[in-house]
Amino acid sequence: MRRLACAGAALLAALASAPTLADSASIRVPADAPAAWKNECSSCHVAYPPQLLGKSSWHTVMKGLDKHFGSDASMAAADAKAITDFLDRYAPPDGGRHDAANGRITQTQWFKRKHREIPASALSSKEVRSAANCQACHSSAEKGVFSEHQLTPLGRRFED
Ligand code: HEC
Ligand code: HEC
Repeated sequence: MRRLACAGAALLAALASAPTLADSASIRVPADAPAAWKNECSSCHVAYPPQLLGKSSWHTVMKGLDKHFGSDASMAAADAKAITDFLDRYAPPDGGRHDAANGRITQTQWFKRKHREIPASALSSKEVRSAANCQACHSSAEKGVFSEHQLTPLGRRFED
């Protein structure tokens, strides 16, 4: 009986820790995504789904929109609040592999692990330009889908 209880506890612990590491199946655009997120956050790059970055890291991004990675992405306060609330609902908790002090998904341990087979030179190459340019390699990135089975011809070159 005791052993069974232990196995149960281990399973519960494993389940509890699962959401901290987004696998491609858990990454999606939630149905309650506000219009502001769909419109504003996709105007310069794909709208990165909330599961990709830890809570505090998203806050860093949302507090610095006027100086956003060299761009001005500021917007009406009400829109920014709706987006922050939305990100809060689906972001993984702090302290996992999705944290990045500078708000870059591409600097998280999670991202680096998923792309460990891809040389840094390829990510900054002329074709890709930047690791943040997900859609160069992920054919359904605009829909928030990042499965390894939905890659562009360029992306397939880096498959393991
Ligand atoms: C005016 C254009 C613009 C808008 C609007 C914009 N961004 Fe960005 N964003 C950028 C640029 C430019 C970068 C840097 C891209 C690069 O390094 O290749 C960036 C990068 C990012 C990154 C880091 C990507 C990485 O991992 O390197 C995140 C996260 C991000 N944006 C989130 C958002 C969110 C959330 C919104 C909506 C609230 C938004 N952006 C709206 C221009 C914009
Ligand atoms: C230079 C091409 C390239 C860029 C840019 C890129 N990826 Fe990837 N990504 C890949 C490849 C190739 C794989 C499959 C890796 C493998 O097979 O080991 C992958 C795997 C993944 C996976 C895991 C898929 C799975 O089914 O397990 C996720 C999630 C992911 N990428 C998200 C992103 C996000 C988000 C961005 C942008 C912030 C991005 N990628 C940018 C090429 C790229």
